[in-house]
Amino acid sequence: MIRAAVIGVGAIGKHHARIYSELEGVELAALAEPDEARRQAAARRFRVPTYATHTDLLAAERIHVVSVTVPTGLHHPVALAALRAGAHVLVEKPITSTLAEADELIAEAAARRLTLTVGHIERFNPAVAELQKRLAAGDLGRVFQVQARRLSPFPLHVLDVGVVMDLATHELDMLRYLLGSEVVRLYAETSRNFHARHEDMLSSILRFANGVIGVLDINWLTPTKVRELRLTGERGMFQVDYITQDLYFYENAEAASHWDTLALFRGVEEGRVVKLRVIKAEPLQQELQAFVAAVRAGAPPAVTGADGRQALRLAGLLLESAQQKQVLPGLEVSAES
Ligand SMILES: NC(=O)c1ccc[n+]([C@@H]2O[C@H](COP(=O)([O-])OP(=O)(O)OC[C@H]3O[C@@H](n4cnc5c(N)ncnc54)[C@H](O)[C@@H]3O)[C@@H](O)[C@H]2O)c1
Repeated sequence: MIRAAVIGVGAIGKHHARIYSELEGVELAALAEPDEARRQAAARRFRVPTYATHTDLLAAERIHVVSVTVPTGLHHPVALAALRAGAHVLVEKPITSTLAEADELIAEAAARRLTLTVGHIERFNPAVAELQKRLAAGDLGRVFQVQARRLSPFPLHVLDVGVVMDLATHELDMLRYLLGSEVVRLYAETSRNFHARHEDMLSSILRFANGVIGVLDINWLTPTKVRELRLTGERGMFQVDYITQDLYFYENAEAASHWDTLALFRGVEEGRVVKLRVIKAEPLQQELQAFVAAVRAGAPPAVTGADGRQALRLAGLLLESAQQKQVLPGLEVSAES
């Protein structure tokens, strides 16, 4: 049995706890939560030992895997303490607040030969997994552009970071993952409208090393939740709805009829629209299952600490571009460097 703990039983932490308590071969062993009412509610629901601090939990319990689901500003000290206690760690996104903190976690995990993974949950969305398979098979031909829209109502409890760190990090990881390429140039505009301290809207254009253009449209200002990805390429357009896990392919009829003789290719014509079969599943369940499987196998996790660091680095560059009102060129650095 793998003994799991969750540190921070708030909005997302309670789902981590529920899933560990249901995963085969895993025992939810303990929880840490300083808020008295939340701690008591969690103790009643999960019937496991609960602690007010992560320090108390890590001193008292023998734990194999930990989810760090505290507010972003606390990811670093809590994840570091868990690694130093010998636990494999899944830290929620963004990995940490600064690159130096991310580097310290990555080095600590490597030195102790422990797994460190980051909660970039959309990698585990079944519609994304199906899309990734189809892109790898060349179904879209050359990719021209990716547009990501992540629009939300205002999140009253996110106080410590802005929308770039909170939401854009999801899409930055997704685009790197789907394109298999790094950003070489970017420009961002942000604005602060309702948030007391941080930006709540981002519009950005990215250029990837493989030539693809990325467009990000992200905010906390839209009264409905939109989570959508569109990839346009030679053979048409893929469209993913992350929420409903629907995947569509809008076929370019010209590409379909002239594919073998692309020299004759003339343009784009509306062809079939196909709704592709996706077997739906809870992304967080898939994520935690993959984390535990990587720990068991001693294999690298699907999302590495370096991936988390790269999403954080790019989010920082978006903020820098917006602040300087400038295009940031010459950025290509792989996640491994
Ligand atoms: N992957 C996703 O889709 C996703 C979704 C939501 C949140 N998140 C991330 O998860 C993290 C938590 O977000 P949230 O919305 O659940 O926040 P939240 O404020 O609802 O929950 C955080 C909890 O951590 C507790 N906490 C604070 N310090 C602690 C400590 N030292 N030890 C134990 N618990 C402590 C707080 O009391 C609170 O209950 C953030 O970094 C956020 O970016 C990721």
